[in-house]
Amino acid sequence: MDFAAWRVARQDEVEQALSTWVPADAPAGLGEAMRYAVLDGGKRLRPLLVLATSAAVGGLREAALRASCAVELIHAYSLVHDDMPCMDNDVLRRGKPTVHVRFGQAQALLAGDALQALAFELLVPNDGSVPSDMAAQLCLLLAQAAGATGMAGGQAVDLASVGLALDLSALEAMHRQKTGALLKASVAMGAATGSVSPEARAQLGRYGAALGLAFQVVDDVLDVTSDSATLGKTAGKDAAADKPTFVSLMGLAQAQAYAGRVLDEAHAALDQSRLDDTSHLHALADWVGRRAY
Ligand code: IPE
Ligand code: IPE
Ligand code: MG
Ligand code: MG
Ligand code: MG
Repeated sequence: MDFAAWRVARQDEVEQALSTWVPADAPAGLGEAMRYAVLDGGKRLRPLLVLATSAAVGGLREAALRASCAVELIHAYSLVHDDMPCMDNDVLRRGKPTVHVRFGQAQALLAGDALQALAFELLVPNDGSVPSDMAAQLCLLLAQAAGATGMAGGQAVDLASVGLALDLSALEAMHRQKTGALLKASVAMGAATGSVSPEARAQLGRYGAALGLAFQVVDDVLDVTSDSATLGKTAGKDAAADKPTFVSLMGLAQAQAYAGRVLDEAHAALDQSRLDDTSHLHALADWVGRRAY
């Protein structure tokens, strides 16, 4: 199947699964806020990485679908909190008013909390469809990527860096944590749904890390080069908030070139993985480099 057709089919599958699993009937309107935060929006890059990696290693389909939704729930929760007034104070996300604008700050905080918990619940179904050792491994990978040494830690560094001129290694470290960790974990979770040689696992790790870093560099670039209507979120926020970014550090053209070099490494890692079919993983790396939103 060509990449575009594969991508649309997988995005539909993930949308349906999320719609089934994110409850509408959580009390006091919480379900409505959770569904608003997750459904009908976003590129679903992290789920696509899980599913493409799982397919490349002959993984268990039910486990891969659950893992793909779990990582998207963590991502969606991170966006809800990232947009709140105490963090980036954004009013637009995925082309809609942000969750706190629509439902209030307390409900946004709780929706994020509940989405995070649901992510882990999805990985441990009680119908035996995910073997318990696999479920435990998936939970560990996701927890490490979401927590203090991953996304949450990176977000803390981001907020502590306002107004500072970070050097390349500090900025790269921040990007690897706040955004790269969850993207790298998406690949690792896909691999954990099947069996893979240590060499292939290592190269997939290199691929995920490179793609994850490049993704946030491109996000920094798009904040400058794109507009709010295309992005579905407010453009120009990083400079306005005095955030250190790859663009503020090295300028636009250099940041774009940097992302390209990092993505070359992602492709090289796949070539060295000796996995049979990495075509969708290659295409996802190209998609990250070319994306307009
Ligand atoms: C935006 O992520 C936030 C970052 C981690 C840079 P995405 O660009 O993947 O957002 P959606 O999921 O497509 O809305
Ligand atoms: C957010 O980075 C990373 C997260 C962990 C949510 P940004 O603050 O740059 O993401 P956008 O630009 O608001 O999507
Ligand atoms: Mg932010
Ligand atoms: Mg933000
Ligand atoms: Mg950004």
